[in-house]
Amino acid sequence: MKLTIVGGGSTYTPELIDGLVRMRDRLDVTEVALHDVSAGRLDVLAAMSRRMFAAGGHPASVTTHTDLAPAAEGADIVLVQLRVGGQAARLQDETLPLRCDCLGQETTGAGGLAKALRTVPVMLDVAERVRAVNPSAWIIDFTNPVGIVTRALLQAGHTRVVGLCSAAVVFQRHFAKVLGVDPSRLTLDHVGLNHLTWERRVLLDGVDVLPRLLGEYGERVAPATGLPVDLVRRLGTVPSYYLHYYYAHDEVVAEQKANGVRAQEVMEIEGRLLEAYADSSVTTKPELLTRRGGAFYSEAALDLMASLRDGDGRTHVVNLRNGSALPFLPEDAVIEVPATVGADGPAALPVAPVEPLLSGLIAHVTAYEHLALEAAVHGGRDRVFRALLAHPLVGQYAVADRLTELLLEANRAALPWA
Ligand code: G6P
Repeated sequence: MKLTIVGGGSTYTPELIDGLVRMRDRLDVTEVALHDVSAGRLDVLAAMSRRMFAAGGHPASVTTHTDLAPAAEGADIVLVQLRVGGQAARLQDETLPLRCDCLGQETTGAGGLAKALRTVPVMLDVAERVRAVNPSAWIIDFTNPVGIVTRALLQAGHTRVVGLCSAAVVFQRHFAKVLGVDPSRLTLDHVGLNHLTWERRVLLDGVDVLPRLLGEYGERVAPATGLPVDLVRRLGTVPSYYLHYYYAHDEVVAEQKANGVRAQEVMEIEGRLLEAYADSSVTTKPELLTRRGGAFYSEAALDLMASLRDGDGRTHVVNLRNGSALPFLPEDAVIEVPATVGADGPAALPVAPVEPLLSGLIAHVTAYEHLALEAAVHGGRDRVFRALLAHPLVGQYAVADRLTELLLEANRAALPWA
């Protein structure tokens, strides 16, 4: 099969190649087509990918493209991992909100809105161009903000789209390590929106071990949430790391003001990764890549690809249209839950009723995502203001007005309407 990676010049590409080498029996990829707008990055990542395939004895070829049509032609799967504006834009998204004492984060809060405004039009264009040459290809979206981007593509009539995040697989691996069991024995009752999820049960061979994880192993589980163990125990669920941006907002802002934002660390890591990739003696995924949040995303991505190709109906945590899964949300919202993946794509498994502590925030952020998408698709200062006013981490009109000014000013070059 042919796999196309849009944003192939990303430092994450070796993560995927490493997965292809390790999971060769599951996925018979014969060609990896790397697409990127930067020919320089493509050259470096293509050479690194070829070395990794050669070292791993994998026969796949690697082709490079700055033009999307030939890259996507004949592909079974098109995986999109692009970042509009690169890490420089992320740094801006994470620092501007701090001026208003709001969170500086690339997907959550005002920074996430700025990213959505820049990214949605590009993703719609990519999906359109893929469909023009290859309407049967599945698009897997790893591009953030995954929930809003997936909703944008589905709303534009792209039905063969699945949104993917590594959050669930990272928790699954972490819990497995803590319990000393193989990850394949664990399934998660994972519910919410992308970057706004809770693990409500953790089933080990079908038996819920969450009480043990919170009790006996609480000190090892809580750090992965960014929250104190006592709070996680009181919640009785394992919240995503992104929820500490809500539950501890002011503390995080103070910490970011004192010590800087994640984008600065990532820029440093990326610089060193690119140096390693450019070194012809490096033939395996550098250890340094484990310091990125999406370090294990190939596990989730490749497993999902196998199900899409085989239509095998296995369960994966994905981002998909709500339908009637969460009855308190609009049907066209995009949610992140376990789903069976068959030849027609994902179908959400039944979701147990969601308690108000979770459903209130989920509904609130879903409304924000709706307004964010309106702003990203149609533009306009007022739409940006309304999305910010609707966000639980902004909410006050004076702050929303000031943030609107700052975001539009900083992103003028990327937003033709601003
Ligand atoms: C996790 C999330 C991704 C996010 C990443 C951030 O993997 O699921 O959506 O992009 O973390 O990691 P970074 O190393 O960029 O901070």
